Amino acid sequence: MERFEPDMTAGQRLIDMVDVGVFAVDRALCVRSWNAFMVAHSGLGRQAAIGRSIFDLFSDLPRGWLEKKFERVFALGAPSFTSWEQRPWLFRIPHNRPITGGVDCMQQDTRFIPLKDEHGEAVLVLVCVFDVTDAALLHRRLAETVSALEAERSEQQTLIARLAEAQEQLIQSEKLAAIGQLAAGVAHEINNPVGFVMSNFGALERYIERAFALIAAYDRQLDQLPPAVQADMAQMKADIDYDFMADDARSLVAESRDGLERVKRIVSDLRDFSRVGETEWQWASLHNCLDSTLNVVMNEIKYKAQVVKDYGDLPQIECMPFQLNQVFLNLLVNAAHAIDGQGAITLRTRLEGDSVVVQFSDTGCGMPPEVVKRIFDPFFTTKPVGKGTGLGLSVTHSIVGRHRGSIAVDSTPGQGTTFTLRLPLRQTSA
Ligand SMILES: Nc1ncnc2c1ncn2[C@@H]1O[C@H](COP(=O)(O)OP(=O)(O)O)[C@@H](O)[C@H]1O
Ligand SMILES: [Mg+2]
Repeated sequence: MERFEPDMTAGQRLIDMVDVGVFAVDRALCVRSWNAFMVAHSGLGRQAAIGRSIFDLFSDLPRGWLEKKFERVFALGAPSFTSWEQRPWLFRIPHNRPITGGVDCMQQDTRFIPLKDEHGEAVLVLVCVFDVTDAALLHRRLAETVSALEAERSEQQTLIARLAEAQEQLIQSEKLAAIGQLAAGVAHEINNPVGFVMSNFGALERYIERAFALIAAYDRQLDQLPPAVQADMAQMKADIDYDFMADDARSLVAESRDGLERVKRIVSDLRDFSRVGETEWQWASLHNCLDSTLNVVMNEIKYKAQVVKDYGDLPQIECMPFQLNQVFLNLLVNAAHAIDGQGAITLRTRLEGDSVVVQFSDTGCGMPPEVVKRIFDPFFTTKPVGKGTGLGLSVTHSIVGRHRGSIAVDSTPGQGTTFTLRLPLRQTSA
C-alpha cells in the first residue's frame, strides 16, 4: 500500500506519464488530484476538476453504490475494484479510437486504492481508470464468434443425427426392395407347381365324377346279381360308409379347387406387385389394381379394419399399373396403421370429367395440421424405428406426379383421414 506523501510534484509528474487515468478523492468525494490522462480523455482541465465532487463532474455515476464503495475503502483501508465484465464503464469518458460494435464509451477496469497518512488512516482514495476498450471489444467479438460456432455445431449435430437416421431408413427401404425381389422369386417358383397341380386337379375331378357315374350304373344293375353277391356289396358299402364318402369326396374336391384358385391369385398378385420397377404406360383398370393390392395387404388389414368398396363406373386409364399398386399399397397400409383397435377403410372411385378420383378414407387416429404439412417429406414418419420409413407418401407423391395427377389429404385428429387421388384418363394427347 502506497503512503501519501505531501510532496506531490514528483509523484504527480510520474503519474502524468502513465497511460492510466489516475485521480485522488477525499472523504467528501471531491477531487484532489487529476492526472494528464484524465485531462486528455475527460476534457476537464485540472483547474476545473480539482475541488469538485465527482458527482458534479460525472452526472451519471451510480451515486448510492459508489458512495458505499468509497466508504468501505476509507473505512477498511483496503483496495477495491470494478471490472468491465460486470460494469462496462463507471466514468463516462469518450473513447478516443474509432469505435465499432456499438461502444461509444471507454470500457474500463477501475481500482480504488486507499492512501494513508502517518497514522495508517486512509485520507484519500486513488482512483485508477484502465482503458480496456480494445480488450473488451475483442472479448465480445470472440464471445459472439464462440456462440455462433456453438450454434453451428449444434446445427451440425442435428444434421449428423438426421443423416444417420436417413441412412438407417435407406437401409430399411433397401431391405424392403430385397424382400420384394425375394417375394417375386418365390412367387415365380410357386407359380409353376401350382400350374400343373391345377391342371392335374381338373383331370382328377373329371375322373372321380366318371368313377362315381360308373358305380351308379352298377348300382342300377344290382338286382340282376345273385342275392349273396348283393348282400356282400351292401355290406361293403356300409363298411366304407359309401354314401357319406361319395358326398364328401365332391365337397373335398370343390374346397380344394377353391384353395388352389386362391393360391394362384395370391401368387399372381405377388408377381404383379413386385414388378413395381416397370415403367410402361398401359391401359389398365384401376379396380383390378385396387383389388390385387388389397389381396396382397389383406393380411395386414383384415384384423383391424373392414374394407368397404364403393366403386363407381370407371373406364380403363392410361397409367403405370404396377406403380399405382405401390401407391395403393402405401395408402392402405398407412390407413391400417392409423387404426387402433377396430375400424373401417372405404375405397371410393368415381369418374369426374377427364379424371378418375380414388378416395381412401379411414376411421383412424387422424393427424394434426403440423403433421399433415410434412407427410410428403421423404423420411418424415411418426412411427417407431423399424415400423415406419417415412418413404411411403413421398414415393406416392412422386408416382402421382409422374401420372400428372394430384393427391390431397383431409384429416381430423381422432376421427380419421381421407386421401383423394385424382388421375387423368390419358397421358398422351388423343
Ligand atoms: N391414414 C393416415 N392416418 C394418420 N396418419 C397418417 C396416415 N397416413 C400417413 N400418416 C402419417 O404420415 C407419416 C408418413 O407416412 P409415410 O410416408 O407412409 O411413412 P411411414 O408410414 O413409413 O411413417 C406417417 O408416419 C403418419 O404419421
Ligand atoms: Mg407408410
